[in-house]
Amino acid sequence: METKWFTLRTVEDKESIAQAADILRRGGLLAIPTETVYGLGANGLDETAVLHIFEAKGRPQDNPLILHIPDASWLTRYCEDVPDAAYKLAERFWPGPLTMILKKKPCVPLRTTGGLETVGMRCPDHAVTRAIIEASGVPVAAPSANTSGRPSCTTAEHVREDMWGKIDGIVDGGPCQVGVESTIIDLTVTPPQLLRPGGLPLESLRDALGEVTVDKAVTQKMNDGEKPRAPGMKYRHYAPKAPVTVVTGGAKASARYLLTHAGEKSGIICFDEFTRLFDGHIVHPLGASDDKRAQAQHVFDALRTFDETNVGEIWAQCPDSKGLGLAIGNRLKKAAGFHVEDADDGKIVIGITGGTGAGKTSLLRALERKGACVLDCDAVYHEMLKDDEPLLRALREAFGDVIFRQDGSVDVHAIGLIVFKDRKKLAELDAIVHERIPRALAQKMAATNAEIIGLDAIKLIESGLGAICDATVAVTAPEEVRVKRIMARDSITEEYARSRIAAQKDADYFRAQCDYEFVNDLPTAEKAEHAAEVYINTIINNLKEETER
Ligand code: TXA
Ligand code: MG
Repeated sequence: METKWFTLRTVEDKESIAQAADILRRGGLLAIPTETVYGLGANGLDETAVLHIFEAKGRPQDNPLILHIPDASWLTRYCEDVPDAAYKLAERFWPGPLTMILKKKPCVPLRTTGGLETVGMRCPDHAVTRAIIEASGVPVAAPSANTSGRPSCTTAEHVREDMWGKIDGIVDGGPCQVGVESTIIDLTVTPPQLLRPGGLPLESLRDALGEVTVDKAVTQKMNDGEKPRAPGMKYRHYAPKAPVTVVTGGAKASARYLLTHAGEKSGIICFDEFTRLFDGHIVHPLGASDDKRAQAQHVFDALRTFDETNVGEIWAQCPDSKGLGLAIGNRLKKAAGFHVEDADDGKIVIGITGGTGAGKTSLLRALERKGACVLDCDAVYHEMLKDDEPLLRALREAFGDVIFRQDGSVDVHAIGLIVFKDRKKLAELDAIVHERIPRALAQKMAATNAEIIGLDAIKLIESGLGAICDATVAVTAPEEVRVKRIMARDSITEEYARSRIAAQKDADYFRAQCDYEFVNDLPTAEKAEHAAEVYINTIINNLKEETER
């Protein structure tokens, strides 16, 4: 079959709209853009056309289709006993990502509704598509335009992958703005029930209607014999070859969890701020952890693109279930067959950074007195140099045999001499170390029973470790204070002390990169440690308040 492609971004393009509408009127199949996902549309009153939808998608016949209409005035043409609640919701949320289940009129064929006496009604927030439906004069039955079992299509290109040659036309109306399908609410029961979370948050429905219950299938795997109220909820959206594990919990805790558990061949779906921690993996960023709109837009794309890879398993970070998070989490969990692990272990990780002589030790001591487990990143690196095979292999590749002593141990001084003179080599060394250090530390964090963990790292930020700390603290002090401290501590000349300070990032850098700054210019260690204790308590209280909120 020849598939016609329409690039249609404006309702002014009357000619193309008329041609597209004509396909629908003649009983053809037309992929249409909506704000949620692309739909595979046909005249919902025409049984043969509807049958073709099921065939093109390979969709089970008992899975009903949604009817798309240009406005709420069309409701009474196809629905019986339309309750006030439907008009109330239409008034507030249409056009928009909301589908209402209502009692159907006899004109709507059972083939469209999968044999049910109810029908799903939706008015999409896409002007071009509404204009096409209007022009066709028929309600458009449209499931998501993906092949059954694949992730929904959020661009016309995705539709091309799945449907080219199988349907009459594809309307390219740009990428979908919402990215997950519509929210489905059943208005034929009291109280109304959420059947599928989607682009309109549950909170908005409750705000409009009061009590709204949630079908069990939204949050749990159905047991054999159990039936979700929306038949489509029993199917997996996407069954990748590799098993998917969804990790819930705070963004930082789940990032730490992924770091400890993901293996070399794991594919990663993570929030944007953590991508660099997974260098060396196939990574699909979901969006920033505080941007659920972006996450909704990316979730299907992330799942879809793993198809072309051969990762052994997939680990995915999951947002909390507020707002759009319920829908995003539901799609991820369905892809995972509800294989979910929770990362929240109640641990608090505080990263301490700052230049030499700034006085990090005061904060670290204060942490230790609170029972914290303090991890020194430098020490962990030196430990790894003893026996971490992948690290040693990477160093040998980058620097050759000259950095190894006769007994096979690494000569750190020799590495120092090379990178001191060669910026490119320094960057190479950093890349090698930073790719491995966060994982090693995450494993140590997971292994300790301590509730509070302190990380001591000059390169907290550059290594990517800062991203998995619940709080980061820059320790700063005036240069004169630092010079005196280093001279006394390391018995070196003033000139050398100054050159060491000059070789490091300055206080402004640390200040800008961290959540907190501790100015450690106190004259004695005792005073500094007392101030540090007060400071640490404040940070911990802030973090505890944050998680309670
Ligand atoms: O955002 C959307 O809703 C997209 C775009 C294209 O509008 N459409 C969509 O359709 O997601 P589809 O067919 O992929 O999903 C429709 C879901 C299925 O889970 C189906 O079982 C459920 O809606 N559904 C449809 N009619 C129903 C009814 N009468 N009672 C219960 N569930 C129904
Ligand atoms: Mg679908």
